[in-house]
Amino acid sequence: MGAVSGGEAFAGRAGELIGAQIAGYQVESELGRGGMAVVYRARDLRLQRTVALKLLTEDMVRNDTFRRRFAHEQRVAASLDHPHIVPIFEAGEADGVLYIAMRYVPGPDLRALLDRDGPLPVPAALRIAAQVASALGAAHERELVHRDVKPGNVLVARGTDSDHPEHVYLTDFGLTKKSLSLTGFTSVGEFVGTLDYVAPEQIAGRPVDGRCDLYSLACVVYETLAGQPPFRRDDAMELLWAHQYDTPPALSERCPGAAAAMDEVLARALAKAPEDRYSSCVQFVAALRAAAQSGAGRGDAGRGDAGRGGGTAARAPTRLDHRGAGPLPDPPLWARPVFVGPPGH
Ligand SMILES: Nc1ncnc2c1ncn2[C@@H]1O[C@H](COP(=O)(O)OP(=O)(O)O)[C@@H](O)[C@H]1O
Ligand SMILES: [Mg+2]
Repeated sequence: MGAVSGGEAFAGRAGELIGAQIAGYQVESELGRGGMAVVYRARDLRLQRTVALKLLTEDMVRNDTFRRRFAHEQRVAASLDHPHIVPIFEAGEADGVLYIAMRYVPGPDLRALLDRDGPLPVPAALRIAAQVASALGAAHERELVHRDVKPGNVLVARGTDSDHPEHVYLTDFGLTKKSLSLTGFTSVGEFVGTLDYVAPEQIAGRPVDGRCDLYSLACVVYETLAGQPPFRRDDAMELLWAHQYDTPPALSERCPGAAAAMDEVLARALAKAPEDRYSSCVQFVAALRAAAQSGAGRGDAGRGDAGRGGGTAARAPTRLDHRGAGPLPDPPLWARPVFVGPPGH
């Protein structure tokens, strides 16, 4: 397949990079790879610490538009200082390789977690969703749109204690191609990336804002609970069509533990038109949590870890609790991101 030849050349070289030094980082082992990059665990030789070193494929290096935008986008991404966003230490170019050094996050990404364990219990899915939503909220407040929210970009590290079993990091801000070209989709999911989470307006090439990330987050949350994203089609074009025109199957049909009220919340987050969705990711997750609690006792909380500490279905309402999943007014103060960027923004 001609379309992947650049990536293949890079992948062929990738093994040779183990032990190599790139821009002051010694490459130790491969952590994973996606369509645009290979990620290594590496040693920062100056500070003597472990980092994740992302090396972009030759395709990206050769792509002039991408290359021109790279430095700027990485500067913006690096300015996001948030507990649920992977911090970037350095980004640049060395010996014709575009690289990003960032915090090494031990633990699987959500893609690997779902592949390994299957769908997660409602409380765990909500905890993860809330953390990703707060990261996106902080980015959106600064008018940065992620554009590639997907399980592979959600890294799940061990949390601080039993009340916070996992600490989630969103990664890869500023790394997507500006708009997906509909050509070159001969090997979907392998080269350009997955289309499972892409918003209708992105597909149509219309301007995007934070609500496109909200759509993608809703697809991720749906998959986290149901074990599959809202739309699955054999063919890339059919999948793009489904995102644009098909009604997503109700979550409760695919996730027996989900409260019926959650269907409405997901339907709104997955609305085709951005203006029909929630106005923020945090608002979406707050509504989902409220809907889950309204249905608690139907057995959904019994699927796993809701019962920690003695409570089961009737967990104490949280700060994010509110009733009713219908059309919502502007988000109240408590639904705004808890953490925002550095002072002055
Ligand atoms: N900061 C990091 N720390 C640890 N592992 C990481 C980090 N960033 C990425 N990875 C791993 O590398 C894999 C490949 O990343 P990437 O090239 O972005 O592909 P994709 O996002 O398409 O999965 C990720 O899925 C993840 O498992
Ligand atoms: Mg990624």
